[in-house]
Amino acid sequence: EKGNYRHFMQKEIFEQPTVVAQTLQSYLRQADNSIALPQFDFDLSRVRRVTIVACGTSYYAAMVAKYWFEQFARIPVDLDVASEFRYREPVLEDGGLALFISQSGETADTLAALRHCKEQGQTIGVVVNVPTSTMAREADLLLPTHAGPEIGVASTKAFTCQLAVLSALAAHMAVLKGLMSPEEEQRVVEHLLEVPACLNSALDRDEEIAGMAHLIAPARDVLYLGRGPDFPLAMEGALKLKEISYIHAEGYASGEMKHGPIALIDEHVPVVVLAPSGPLFEKTVSNMEEVRARGGKIVLISDREGIAEAGEGCMATIEMPRVHPLIAPIVYAIPVQLLAYHTACLKGTDVDQPRNLAKSVTVE
Ligand code: M6R
Repeated sequence: EKGNYRHFMQKEIFEQPTVVAQTLQSYLRQADNSIALPQFDFDLSRVRRVTIVACGTSYYAAMVAKYWFEQFARIPVDLDVASEFRYREPVLEDGGLALFISQSGETADTLAALRHCKEQGQTIGVVVNVPTSTMAREADLLLPTHAGPEIGVASTKAFTCQLAVLSALAAHMAVLKGLMSPEEEQRVVEHLLEVPACLNSALDRDEEIAGMAHLIAPARDVLYLGRGPDFPLAMEGALKLKEISYIHAEGYASGEMKHGPIALIDEHVPVVVLAPSGPLFEKTVSNMEEVRARGGKIVLISDREGIAEAGEGCMATIEMPRVHPLIAPIVYAIPVQLLAYHTACLKGTDVDQPRNLAKSVTVE
């Protein structure tokens, strides 16, 4: 049931503070602010390399996870879209961990990759939203997301719940490897516990973002830029816009702009920049200058500090709460979802059932 919402997608966007909190609750122990994964008989501290495979939005969650696993746990991550993975003859280490991320747990390409890894003797970890799905049944390590049923074809709440699980997993592996002290673990947990409130503040921008849809709706092409763990968010923002508004959009690493896509920039191509303030911010500001110098129109998504520093001359700004870099990708998912949603509404497309798409892709 949609309740008071116009679309399932809209309802699911607004459910995120609740379902992310639910998901986090099952991975965090609030009594002592520590991380507590479900029980399984596999020694995670032995893991030297992780292979992650997924499709679409779940793949972008995997991309964020790669930054986390490498940064916090110093575990190298191989990452692939499922349709490429099997056919490139990947080299898998003996006793390795392969992680599959899926909302539905039925995506054919991801499932085929999972079975391939199983045959190769990998331990199979699955981050999945549908507990009765095939992938959930075939997992050695089941890491459920608790987003509840997702009806809108465009994935929203499943994505942020996947990120919640993956952030806890990456931090837990860092603890197991002795790279994160109990004090640091407590701090990470405190930051994770702040996520639902931060998602609520991001959702407070809904009306403002709805008012920006007219800036995006007439465009033929839109670029999304981000750096570090916010680069996958740029790709996710572009995917959301493509799926439901049918506007061509691309997500790029901010630093890649000058290696090609900058040729596209003119006053008709809106550029959405995801840039929480922090160590990478200055670099992104110079990428914004490159865009502006070519007449590009920027929508800057940042926090108060970032907007104060770089907001001038932007076509629009969207203010996010100031958050720890670990949780920024979870919070910054909201404005890109809302921007796509309102643009699609303005264009009058079928938001919940976009053309040519199925909720679950069960053919390879
Ligand atoms: O159920 P899954 O997470 O395995 O689905 C993967 C993709 O098909 C899915 O994320 C798709 O890209 C969505 N329509 C994105 O909004």
